[in-house]
Amino acid sequence: MRLIVTSDLHYNVLRSKQPTVDLAEEICRLRADALLILGDAAGQDVSILRECFQLFDRFAGRKFFVPGNHELWAPPGECSLVRYEQILPRVCAEAGFHMLDHEPVVLGRVGLVGSMGWYDFSFRPEHLGIPLRFYREKVAPGAASRMERYQHLLETVDDVPEDSLSMGTRWMDGEHVRLPMDDVTFCRRLLDRLEGQLQELSSACDTLVVGLHHLPYAELIPPNSNPSWAFAAAFLGSTAYGEMLLRYPKARHVYCGHVHKAGEVTHGHVHCISTGCTYLEKRYEILELD
Ligand SMILES: [Fe+2]
Ligand SMILES: [Fe+2]
Repeated sequence: MRLIVTSDLHYNVLRSKQPTVDLAEEICRLRADALLILGDAAGQDVSILRECFQLFDRFAGRKFFVPGNHELWAPPGECSLVRYEQILPRVCAEAGFHMLDHEPVVLGRVGLVGSMGWYDFSFRPEHLGIPLRFYREKVAPGAASRMERYQHLLETVDDVPEDSLSMGTRWMDGEHVRLPMDDVTFCRRLLDRLEGQLQELSSACDTLVVGLHHLPYAELIPPNSNPSWAFAAAFLGSTAYGEMLLRYPKARHVYCGHVHKAGEVTHGHVHCISTGCTYLEKRYEILELD
C-alpha cells in the first residue's frame, strides 16, 4: 500500500496557486494507492475547494480529505458546524474525495482514520501568563485593548501581564469560524469521534494510519522567540489527541498539517509527521506499507 500525504495547499491564496498546480501534476504522475489531503486546501469559498480537488482528477488511486480550520471559515450567517457536518462531506463526495472525519476506511490490512482535530488551549504557553479568557476570544491583550468589542476582557487588568498589552495577535478563526459550542467542547467532540474510529478499526486492521489537520504534539510547533507567535501556539492543536493515540498500539503512522513547518516526533509507538507545506513551497510524504 502506497499512500501520498499532503496538506495546506491554500489554493484560495494567490501565491499558493501555481505551487499547488505543480504539486498536483507531480502527485498525479505518481503511482500510489491513495492520496490524503490534510486540510486548508482552500477557505470560505467552497467553489475554490472544488477547483482544488479537480487538480487531482487524474490521480489513479483513492482520494481522502480531512478539512482544516480554513475550510470552517464560513460566510456571515452560515454555521461552521453545518459546513463540517454537511457541506464539506458533500463537496468532497462530488469531487471523488472521501471525507475521513465522518467515516474511516479499510485498505487491505491498513485502516485509515482521520479528523480535522481542533484546539482546547492546552498548547497555550504558560510562561506568557495571559489569562484564558483572551485565548477563548482568540485575541491577545494588546489587540483586545484596541477593539471596542473586546473591552470586557480588560475590565480587570490585575491579572494581565504588562508586556502582553503590546501584543497585537489575533487568531482569525475568531472572526470567521462560528460554532454553536465552545472550542473545548468542539475539540472533545471530534476527539471522541476519532477515538470511535480507532476502536472500530483496531480489531480489523494490522496498522492504523491517522490523518489530522491540527497537531497532536506540541513539539511540532516551531520554536519562535516572538511572543506574538507564542500566543498563536494555543490554536495549533491539543495534547488530548496525542495522549489518546498512545492508547491505540496500531496507530503507528500519524500525519498532520496546519503548522506549515515540516517536522517529526516519536512518542512510544506513534511516529507523527507534520507535512510542512508553506504558502510557496508544497511538499508531500510517501508512506509504503506491506
Ligand atoms: Fe494552513
Ligand atoms: Fe490550518
